[in-house]
Amino acid sequence: MSVLLRGGTVVNADRSQRADVLCDGSKIVAVGSDLDAPRGTTVVDAGGQYVMPGGIDPHTHMQLPFMGTVASEDFESGTAAGLAGGTTMIIDFVIPSPQQNIMDAYRQWREWAEKSVADYTFHVAITWWDDSVYKDMGTLVHEHGVNSFKHFMAYKGAIMADDEILVNSFSRALELGAICTVHAENGELVYRLQQQLFEKGMTGPEAHPLSRPPECEGEAANRAIRIAEVLKVPLYIVHNSCRQSLEAITRARNEGQRVFGEVLAGHLLIDDSVYRHRDFDVAAAHVMSPPFRSKEHQEALWRGLQSGNLQTTATDHCCFCADQKVAGKNDFRLIPNGTGGIENRMEVLWHHGVGSGKLTMNEFVAVTSTNAAQIFNIYPQKGSVSAGADADIVVWDPEATKTISTKTDHQNVDYNIFEGMKVKGCASYTLSQGNIVWADGKLNVKRGAGRYIDRPAFASYYDALKLQAKHAEPVAVKR
Ligand code: URP
Ligand code: ZN
Ligand code: ZN
Repeated sequence: MSVLLRGGTVVNADRSQRADVLCDGSKIVAVGSDLDAPRGTTVVDAGGQYVMPGGIDPHTHMQLPFMGTVASEDFESGTAAGLAGGTTMIIDFVIPSPQQNIMDAYRQWREWAEKSVADYTFHVAITWWDDSVYKDMGTLVHEHGVNSFKHFMAYKGAIMADDEILVNSFSRALELGAICTVHAENGELVYRLQQQLFEKGMTGPEAHPLSRPPECEGEAANRAIRIAEVLKVPLYIVHNSCRQSLEAITRARNEGQRVFGEVLAGHLLIDDSVYRHRDFDVAAAHVMSPPFRSKEHQEALWRGLQSGNLQTTATDHCCFCADQKVAGKNDFRLIPNGTGGIENRMEVLWHHGVGSGKLTMNEFVAVTSTNAAQIFNIYPQKGSVSAGADADIVVWDPEATKTISTKTDHQNVDYNIFEGMKVKGCASYTLSQGNIVWADGKLNVKRGAGRYIDRPAFASYYDALKLQAKHAEPVAVKR
C-alpha cells in the first residue's frame, strides 16, 4: 500500500518545509515538492496541516500487575488510544517481581504485547540482584534489543531498588553500553511519612501528596545522578514532577554529565488541589507517584522543557478504574498508583505548549518524539519524517478543536485526568507502518499489527566516555 500526504508542511525537530510525503509499505520513501502518486496510491490532502513524526511515549504501563490488581488498559486498547491521539510508538516496562527470573518476566511481557496495534519496545526493570540478573542483562542487550534498564527508588517492600542494586545494575549497564533510568523518590522516607500520616488519622487521598514531598524526589534524583557520575554511566530520570529534581538534573548537565529528564503531560498541567476533591473517586483517580504538585513546580517544569534540561514528555499511562482505586478507600496507601493520558499527550502539549508560545512546533516534535528516539537509540527509524524512516506519521490539524472527555476517548479507563479540557490542534490522520489507522475521527487498527522494535546498545555515549577516561588528568597524589 502506498500513501501520499500532499500539500502539508513537514515539521521535524530540526526544520519545517512545505513538502509532500510518499510512503510505500511501512517506510517513507520520499519527502519533496510535487511528488507523483504511483497508481493505486491513496492521496491524503494535508493542505493547511502539519506532517510530523508520530509521537513516541517513552513511559507506559499497559496491563501492569501492580498493587494487588492489573492496569485496565491492555496493549491492544492502549496502543489504539495512542494512535487516536497521534502517538505511534510506546516504550513500556518489563517489571519482574523481586526474585522473579528476568528472562521469564521479559518473555511474559513480550507475549502480552503481541496484541499491540502500534509499535512498541521495553525498558526492563532491575528489582533485585544476583548473578543471574547480571547475566540476563547481558542476554537482553546482546540478543533482545534492550538498551535501557529501569530502577524504582520507591515502592519499599515491593519493587524498590536500594543503593546496592543501583550500583550493581548501573555498573553492569556500563559494561553493556546500556542507559539506566530511575523513578526517583526516596522510598524509605515515603514509607515513614505514609505510616506517620496514617497513624495521625489521615487516611484519604489528601495524604498521598503529603507522603511524597518534592524533597523526597529531589534527594533520590540527586543520589541517582551522583551514583551515575561516579560510575560514569548515562542516566535518564523518568517523570520529574518538581523543581528539586529539575535542579539536580540542571546542575549535573551544567557540570557536563550525561543526564536526561522526562516530564509527564499531567505534571505540567494538573495541580495538587485534585487530592482535596470531596469525592473520593475523583481524588483517588489522580493518585499516582510522584503526585501532582503545586503550580510553582508546574512552572519550573515548563521552564525545564523550554531550556532543554528536560528532553522528553510521556504519560506514565497506567490506568486503574474506580472499582480498583476503591481498594484504598480507608487507607490511601492501598490506592493503586497510576493515571492515564496516552491519547491526549500530544494535543494537550500542543495546545498549552505551542498554542501559548512556550514551545515552537519544532520543539514540540523534539519533546514528543525525536528526543526519545535519539535518547533510546532508534533515531531516525523513529522520530523523523525523512526518506528511509518508518512511516509512523501524524497529520496535525492546527485549527481542529475538541473537549477532552472519557465519554469520547478510546482509553480503557473510566476517568480522564484532562476531562473537560478544551484543546485547539489535534491529529486528523495517523499513519502506523504506512497504514492510515486514524482518520475522520475513526480508528482502523489490526490486533497484533504492532511490532517489537529492537534498540541497539549505545556505541556513541560509551565511546565518548572511554575517550574522556583516556584524556583525563591523572589524579595528583599529595605527599
Ligand atoms: O503512579 C505511578 N506512576 N504508577 C506506575 C508506576 C510508576 O511509578 O511509574
Ligand atoms: Zn514511576
Ligand atoms: Zn511509570
